[in-house]
Amino acid sequence: MKVIKTIAEMREVRRSIDKDVGFVPTMGYLHDGHLALAAQAKKENPVVMASIFVNPTQFGPREDLAGYPRDIPRDLKMLESVKTDFVFIPPAEEMYPPRASTWVNVEKVTDRLEGAVRPGHFRGVATVVTKLFNIVQPTRAYFGQKDAQQCVVIKRMVTDLDMDLEVVICPTVREKDGLAMSSRNTYLKPDERKAATVLYQSLKLAERLYTEGERNAETIRRKMADLIKQQPLANIDYISIAHNETLEELDVVKPPALISLVVKIGRPRLLDNIILK
Ligand code: PAJ
Repeated sequence: MKVIKTIAEMREVRRSIDKDVGFVPTMGYLHDGHLALAAQAKKENPVVMASIFVNPTQFGPREDLAGYPRDIPRDLKMLESVKTDFVFIPPAEEMYPPRASTWVNVEKVTDRLEGAVRPGHFRGVATVVTKLFNIVQPTRAYFGQKDAQQCVVIKRMVTDLDMDLEVVICPTVREKDGLAMSSRNTYLKPDERKAATVLYQSLKLAERLYTEGERNAETIRRKMADLIKQQPLANIDYISIAHNETLEELDVVKPPALISLVVKIGRPRLLDNIILK
């Protein structure tokens, strides 16, 4: 596995490869969810590249960019274990030189959900992902369903800007008790960690209600909220049942519907979702 730190070197390497390249962008502090993306990329492409870059432009002024967890030596070992070929780790000055002033702004689907709570977040994501795509020029790029709105935004952007690559969405990797893996889980104290299982339980409840024939979105949202409120450590930020491409809220549930929620437990905001097929 080769580590690359500059854009110039990354371009040189990419020019020397005439095979399919699978690309996994990350912000590091990896867990099995990230590794599943790299493993799937390895199955579908002869060459796999990952990136580790804690992107400053997707953090809001009150969000803790400096405190974002980092452990590059551990990340490299993990990426090596799934046979990643190249890892791009650019310094921030390399990605954002002082006079950089061009942004990629995906409209409408960024107005809702996380976009509404974190203004500018998806502008930062779309911009850095565009830059990474331009530098790495992947054949396929791998993203996790865990960040459902990010998947919708990236797919919209790739279609709208005619980017020549395939976006592959991989299933959410969970702990044994259903909690979606996330670097934020490390902030949970033991009792909070136990309480955090309520997110997945509420999603499973929604799925069961749907399978049993419930089609009223408000009824499902309310029953999910009732379940979560039984957990005193949990504070609901939002529960959404929306169309999985437009992200518009639904009154009547019909596939492809995205059920997503954010619940605050202790310090972290925990995100999770499922898609009804
Ligand atoms: P990061 O949070 O590091 O996540 C990198 C990728 O891992 C994303 O595609 C995310 O959806 C996926 N992922 C995280 N947890 C997962 C889980 N439990 N199961 C499956 N996939 C999971 O998302 C970002 O970084 C950044 O916004 C980025 C796209 C790199 C742009 O800066």
